[in-house]
Amino acid sequence: MQNGVAIHCMQPTPQPVIKFACANLPPAWVAADAGCWAAAMAMACKSIDQAGWLALREQLWPDCPRERHLSQMSALLAAPDRFAQFVDYDTSNNPPGFVEVALRNDYVNGTTTSPVAFLEGIYVSRDSRMQGVARRLFAEAERWAVGFGCTELASDALVENKQSHAMHQALGFEETERVVFFRKALR
Ligand SMILES: CC(C)(COP(=O)(O)OP(=O)(O)OC[C@H]1O[C@@H](n2cnc3c(N)ncnc32)[C@H](O)[C@@H]1OP(=O)(O)O)[C@@H](O)C(=O)NCCC(=O)NCCS
Repeated sequence: MQNGVAIHCMQPTPQPVIKFACANLPPAWVAADAGCWAAAMAMACKSIDQAGWLALREQLWPDCPRERHLSQMSALLAAPDRFAQFVDYDTSNNPPGFVEVALRNDYVNGTTTSPVAFLEGIYVSRDSRMQGVARRLFAEAERWAVGFGCTELASDALVENKQSHAMHQALGFEETERVVFFRKALR
C-alpha cells in the first residue's frame, strides 16, 4: 500500500513501455493488471518541489536566477485555470523533460480563435532526445488545452532553432508567420 493505493508490483520491467492514466504516482509504482509494466509518463506539477521541474527549467532558461524561477513557478501554480506544467518521468523515475503551457487571451500570431493554448516552453535533456519525450509532453499539453475548450495550440521557436522546427512539424504543427520583434527604450 502506497499513499493509500494498492501497489500490485513495484518492480519496473524494461518492456513494454505503455502509457496509461494513473493518479499522481511515480511511474515505477504503476502496475497493470495484465502484467507488471512500469510506464514512462508525464505528470502535472503540483508544487515547486515537483521532482526535476526546477532543474529542467534552469537548463532551458539558464540566464534566469533561481529565485525568479521559483517565484515564476509559484505564480504558475497559483493560476491553474491559465497555466499548466508537466514533467516527464522515465521508468526509473528520472525526469528527462518538461513542458509549460498557457491560455493566452491576447492575439496570438497565426491563430483565429481565443483563448489559444500556447506552448511557453519545452525542454528535453540531451541524452533523452529522439525517444518520444517531447511527443508525450505535447500530448499532455494538448489534453489540458482541449479540456479548456481550445481548438488551437500555438507555439514559437527562434528562426535558427531547426530542431524545434522539425519537432513541431513532426508533431502536426504548421508554420504560420515569421516576425521580427523590435524594442525602443522610453524615458
Ligand atoms: C526540441 C526538443 C524539445 C525535442 O524533444 P525530443 O524529446 O527529442 O522530441 P521527440 O523525441 O518527442 O520527437 C518528437 C518528434 O519530433 C521529431 N524531432 C525531434 N527532434 C528532432 C530533430 N532534432 N530533428 C528532426 N526531427 C526531430 C522526432 O523525429 C519525432 O517525430 P516522429 O515521432 O515522427 O519520429 C529537444 O530537442 C529540446 O529540448 N531541445 C532544446 C530546447 C528547445 O529547443 N526547445 C524548444 C524551444 S521552441
